[in-house]
Amino acid sequence: MNISTRPGYQSAKIVAPAAAAARQPSRALPSQPGPNPKAYRLPRWRLGALCTWSRPAPFVVAILLALGFASVHAQGNRVAGEYIAKAAGCMGCHTDTKAGSVPFAGGRALETPFGVFYGPNITPHRDTGLGAWSEEEVRRAVRRGERRDGSHYFPAFPYPSFTGMSDTDVRDLWVYLRSLPATNRANQEHALRFPFSWRPLVAVWKWLFFTAAPALSNAPTGASVARGSYLVRALGHCGECHTPRNFLGGPKSDRLLAGGKVPEGKVPNLTPTRLKKWTDAGLKEYLLTGLTPGGDIAGEPMGEVITNSTSRLTPDDLSAIVVYLRSLPPLPSQE
Ligand code: HEC
Ligand code: HEC
Repeated sequence: MNISTRPGYQSAKIVAPAAAAARQPSRALPSQPGPNPKAYRLPRWRLGALCTWSRPAPFVVAILLALGFASVHAQGNRVAGEYIAKAAGCMGCHTDTKAGSVPFAGGRALETPFGVFYGPNITPHRDTGLGAWSEEEVRRAVRRGERRDGSHYFPAFPYPSFTGMSDTDVRDLWVYLRSLPATNRANQEHALRFPFSWRPLVAVWKWLFFTAAPALSNAPTGASVARGSYLVRALGHCGECHTPRNFLGGPKSDRLLAGGKVPEGKVPNLTPTRLKKWTDAGLKEYLLTGLTPGGDIAGEPMGEVITNSTSRLTPDDLSAIVVYLRSLPPLPSQE
């Protein structure tokens, strides 16, 4: 396994200034043609008029800057969206593992006890991707698990976690997805065992186990419990693996993040019962590089979560995750 986390860490550091740059509204201003004396000479009186005009110019520029700033916010922010896509691991499930596959163009096989799911194409291709979708349709998919035709997505798409995402984050994410190259790659049918292959059954599953939730509070910066909770429960969907499930695939809500036996093996307990053995620095190092304090390397699928997501987070966000995990009620580990 290749955990190229150091470069990821570097790029995470670059995110903040890059995001700041993208918020700079200057690009919203019309570009001024540069002076070209050969092409056109301004008569004197016009120069005078220009000088008079240039006095209130700072105000005009300020107003334009403010308008640009507001519109960048209303339209969403691509760089912020890219960061959210990383924190949420969208690429892993939506990219085939074959060498040379186009990111987000789908084809990734996801093995589950119910059969194999294939992550669909979420590039902005009009026929095979999300090209014809509206922002509202993306929001309904990501936060409510609803398809455009009103039927339901299988919870292999972790919308039970993403339901806690803020609308601003979904908007930024959508701006980012739309900026990707539109790739023509047809979706594959999932290969599920009967009766799980019967999509209407998902309505029953949702009725039993899913409630669309209001967005979790998303403190944007700082290593706070609230930010950590947002990163772990909504974006990072850590509970999709670390919260054990019952035989119908419903999360055991009394064992939130407490790990246990899963069909693929055992998933560790992330509550303080187990994590108290780890130092903060050790935990952050693990989420950044996949190395345990004992010198082991994270096994799959955690290795992939580290490569695609946690190693790309800012140092503040990593700290927020640790602060949140430390705040959980300690639950016993299942042997
Ligand atoms: C754990 C794997 C996984 C992750 C992580 C994941 N998805 Fe998906 N996604 C799926 C699967 C599987 C489906 C298909 C579900 C179905 O057919 O019912 C899906 C479906 C979708 C769809 C509907 C596509 C269509 O053609 O109907 C959209 C949109 C989508 N995902 C966006 C995202 C975004 C955005 C993220 C990151 C915030 C994300 N996904 C993260 C597995 C994942
Ligand atoms: C796709 C499933 C999956 C997801 C999603 C996932 N994990 Fe894990 N995680 C695992 C597995 C499996 C292991 C055990 C790895 C091993 O045995 O080396 C693990 C191990 C860990 C460990 C080491 C704990 C220990 O005591 O050994 C930590 C810490 C951890 N995960 C945190 C997280 C956080 C934080 C998130 C969300 C950002 C997350 N995980 C998301 C599957 C997952």
